[in-house]
Amino acid sequence: MNSRSLVAIATRNDKALGVAYAVPTQTPDMAYTVPKLTDYSSAALDRVAGECIAACAVESGEVRTDTDLKSFRDRWLARKNGILTQINDLWLKGAPKEAKREAGIRVNELKARVTELVEKAHVAAEDSQAGESVDVSLPGIRRPIGAEHPVIKTMHEIVGVFQKLGYSVAEGPVVETDYYNFEALNFPPNHPARDTQDTLFIAAQQSKQQRERLLLRTHTSPVQIRTMEKMRPPIRIVIPGTVHRNDPPDASHSPMFHQIEGLAVDTNITFGDLKGTLDHAMKALFGSSVKTHFRPSFFPFTEPSAELYVTCFICGGSGKRGADPCRPCKQTGWIEVLGCGMVDPNVFEFVKDNGYDPKRVSGFAFGMGVDRLALLKYGVDDLQYFFQGDVRFLEQFA
Ligand code: DAH
Repeated sequence: MNSRSLVAIATRNDKALGVAYAVPTQTPDMAYTVPKLTDYSSAALDRVAGECIAACAVESGEVRTDTDLKSFRDRWLARKNGILTQINDLWLKGAPKEAKREAGIRVNELKARVTELVEKAHVAAEDSQAGESVDVSLPGIRRPIGAEHPVIKTMHEIVGVFQKLGYSVAEGPVVETDYYNFEALNFPPNHPARDTQDTLFIAAQQSKQQRERLLLRTHTSPVQIRTMEKMRPPIRIVIPGTVHRNDPPDASHSPMFHQIEGLAVDTNITFGDLKGTLDHAMKALFGSSVKTHFRPSFFPFTEPSAELYVTCFICGGSGKRGADPCRPCKQTGWIEVLGCGMVDPNVFEFVKDNGYDPKRVSGFAFGMGVDRLALLKYGVDDLQYFFQGDVRFLEQFA
């Protein structure tokens, strides 16, 4: 603050404080306040206008942040009681008639200068903040990159093998009705075959008819029916998804796990097609030297039914790992990978009206547990690791 502004401050305060003219009443770094004018000569106007602009320039130079800018702008430009408004009131309205013109010109010039200084402060605030928020020399924020879960990865690989054979992907609900999970798959109500499925039922369904009652699907097979209701033959589909069973979690069981179902229906599909397709798929998944082996089995929705075994891809079929017994295949040299069979004509009866007359069409189906295959493939010895969400475990598969 220069001596001129000291004068101005004294001018404003002299009346209130009753002190002599030109005695500074504020320290130089106190904020600028608008003096009242008694002297309207050109020289006096020059002086007060100069002091005002000088004060504004100093304050403008101190603006750094948005908050600084806002209070600076409000202080000078606010309609109500901003400094320019005060100047208007004190210098212009209070001017004697003959000085009005001259005072008006000064005040206009002053307004233009103050507006310029506010704009300058605005630019300065933007510059200094831009400088603060982007320091290009700092290392960037690294976002950890996610990766496919080993079970999902295995699922995609299996689905991919069948997609290359022309299969499409179908999906269905995890909360399913008794009808799709059991009845339409040829598990009649109260049939003992239902006991093999350790079903988790949704509570409070007793008032519904049995076929309407909800449960967590125990297998992906219900999507066979749902798809055949929607699509006429021929069809070739794979159905990946989660399923649930009332099994306590341990190293090889989980109440939630994953399956991939397959279904091919056309005229003249034979067991030979089933064997050829699955033999090809196993070679594509586990390597061309793998051998397949079918053993008779039972599933209500296929007839005949089989379990498919592949030569153990851990020990190569020998049952031994060096001098040690091979654990994954329990020294047999064979690993069971899926259940399969020819679609039972009773199943087609439920979708007969959509073109699946059991006298005209035939088909095969298969279903495999994905989690167990992922365990074997990655040599993991506890299924629970897959579902605990521990990044230290999961990132090993990225
Ligand atoms: N749904 C059966 C299960 O979870 C597996 C299965 C067996 C599916 C034979 C099939 C099949 O499509 O043909 O135990």
